[in-house]
Amino acid sequence: MWLFNEISELYTPFDRVENAAMVVDAGRVVWVGPAAELPDAYLDDVTLVSLRNRAVLPGLVDSHTHLVWAGSRVDEYLRRARGETYEAILEAGGGIHNTVHATAAASEGELFAGVLDRARYMLTQGVTTLEIKSGYGLEAEQELKMLHVIRRLASETPQHIEPTLLAHVIPTGWDRREYVEMFCRRLIPEVAREDLATAVDVFCDRGAFTLEETRRLFEAAAEHGLACKVHAEQLTHTGATRLAAEMGALSADHLEQTTPADWQALAASSTVATLLPGATVVLRKHLPDVRGMLDTGVKIAIATDHNPGSSPFYSLLLCLQFGIALGGMSAEEALIAGTVHAADALGLRDHGRLTRGAVADFLVVDSPHALAALYPWGKSVAAEVYVGGERFRISD
Ligand code: NIG
Ligand code: FE
Repeated sequence: MWLFNEISELYTPFDRVENAAMVVDAGRVVWVGPAAELPDAYLDDVTLVSLRNRAVLPGLVDSHTHLVWAGSRVDEYLRRARGETYEAILEAGGGIHNTVHATAAASEGELFAGVLDRARYMLTQGVTTLEIKSGYGLEAEQELKMLHVIRRLASETPQHIEPTLLAHVIPTGWDRREYVEMFCRRLIPEVAREDLATAVDVFCDRGAFTLEETRRLFEAAAEHGLACKVHAEQLTHTGATRLAAEMGALSADHLEQTTPADWQALAASSTVATLLPGATVVLRKHLPDVRGMLDTGVKIAIATDHNPGSSPFYSLLLCLQFGIALGGMSAEEALIAGTVHAADALGLRDHGRLTRGAVADFLVVDSPHALAALYPWGKSVAAEVYVGGERFRISD
């Protein structure tokens, strides 16, 4: 049993506790609260760790990433910087298709080396839970290859990894109806049987899947015990957000083009709204009215959407800062969006929070003020990162 004390301030993240202490046993929080209220029983048989008057936050949760990929989209990035659009490049067979070719040409070993490197970097930034999607395979064998790489990462990184099967776009040369049927009748059942993913995500937009195809894919996912989530209303308004809410999806993500009616549907459902400000900013779009969404009662998470095209983002903290600067969120709301709400978007009830029984994933902020983590832009203030109560890295 470990007793972490001399914590200047701790966010659970719902509550702020000053002069806190936290007891961890077998990787989980068994007690957390003001140090003065620590029951004597915990003082026997504990190893004491002083955090030396620094603050503690729950480990960050990145609930939407496309972390496995090969190649580079720097050419496309430069073309977009000159004014070409993401959609036009995709329609002309570039964009996502470019990464699909490079990912198909890469071996599992190469893909693994790339994703391990990215996941490690994120861990040093305090990201202790990561969702990772397939979706650059398109063909069944290639999708399975990506999911095997994600499974290997899960066994070799201390982070908790949630794998998702992504129906991204229709591969060139396929009839779209046949592709959707292949996905529903072959890929989803096989992925469920092999336990390679916990959810199915669909990119529902112009240039990708239609609303009807999305519904069909959701039904197949549910039939095989997989959760659903969706890339919704990013480029155009399709109605995917309302479908997600209606079908009890874990999350609806992007949401730039959502309307107040969509927010009402979300607020009345269990579906988490995941904002991806990295993609919004990189594609020169605008976030939806985040305050309007919050006032409607929508549960908001924020994630990086890390991918080589629309969001080459490595910093979840920076995305939370965009939530504050561009979305009008308070620092507390942004913190909740990157921890407990992001965990909810993954169906994880024991992550993203430091409450009794939760997994003891936390970061020690290099300041007595916990929210100082959101103050410097472009610099991580995670001095130490603990996963399941074990220290991963110390900067000093
Ligand atoms: O979430 N919008 C669709 N999919 C990804 C982008 C993938 C890519 O461009 O490679 C996204 O933004
Ligand atoms: Fe995405």
